[in-house]
Amino acid sequence: MRPYDNEKLPRHVAIIMDGNGRWAQARNLPRVEGHIVGIESVRDVVSATRELGIPYLTLYAFSKENWVRPRDEVRKLMELLGIYLDKELPLMLEKDIRFNMIGEMKDFPKKLQEKMHSVMRKTARHKSLTLNLALSYSGRQEILHAIISLFEDVKKGSIKKINEHVFKKYLYTGTTPDPDFLIRTSGEMRLSNFLLWQMAYTEIFVTKVFWPDFRRKHYISALREFCKRERRFGRVEDID
Ligand code: IPE
Ligand code: IPE
Ligand code: MG
Repeated sequence: MRPYDNEKLPRHVAIIMDGNGRWAQARNLPRVEGHIVGIESVRDVVSATRELGIPYLTLYAFSKENWVRPRDEVRKLMELLGIYLDKELPLMLEKDIRFNMIGEMKDFPKKLQEKMHSVMRKTARHKSLTLNLALSYSGRQEILHAIISLFEDVKKGSIKKINEHVFKKYLYTGTTPDPDFLIRTSGEMRLSNFLLWQMAYTEIFVTKVFWPDFRRKHYISALREFCKRERRFGRVEDID
């Protein structure tokens, strides 16, 4: 299926994968079941992104603020992350997908840190799709860290001039282009501390569909909507 003009597709899609708990609660299941089924949606969306030739996808999987959730839920999420990485590595190797963790690596158990580093290393040269997984991520923390590292480099004398272009490289996303399109599932109208610097001009799309139900067809229809958007970046429409 060729849903639209490929020229107009976003180069970078960011997704706030929300609503796993409510999906499960609506079925009288424990919240964790929503996270488990949500992994299927991740698979669907990652493969659709790769097939469509969109080169960057950033998925918000766990926020810095999510650590205060019930201990059992956090433990299960960590376990699922480990399983996901083990299971998806062969596909990443086969499909030329680069895995990149963005967030506070040091917050994770040592074993999981090693696993993430290992998958990042093994996929580092891949070019077709960069999959950023935001884990223990906070947009404000990211900006603060960037300021601190930049300040160090200014003190050392390796940076003489500061502008947006220079600053951006200190963020976790580095030289990745800013997201063109943000999708948030489950209907909440907020950013929840996601990519605060990078989303200055991102087109936003919110759907009521819960993440575990969000599959390829929903993704394609969101992308269709993106293709119809007129992005102005502060300019006025062409009138002549
Ligand atoms: C998103 O779903 C996944 C994570 C934040 C880990 P939620 O777990 O936030 O589900 P709801 O929003 O409570 O339904
Ligand atoms: C945002 O969802 C974070 C992730 C999807 C990982 P939350 O469920 O944590 O956000 P709030 O609490 O509704 O803002
Ligand atoms: Mg939520």
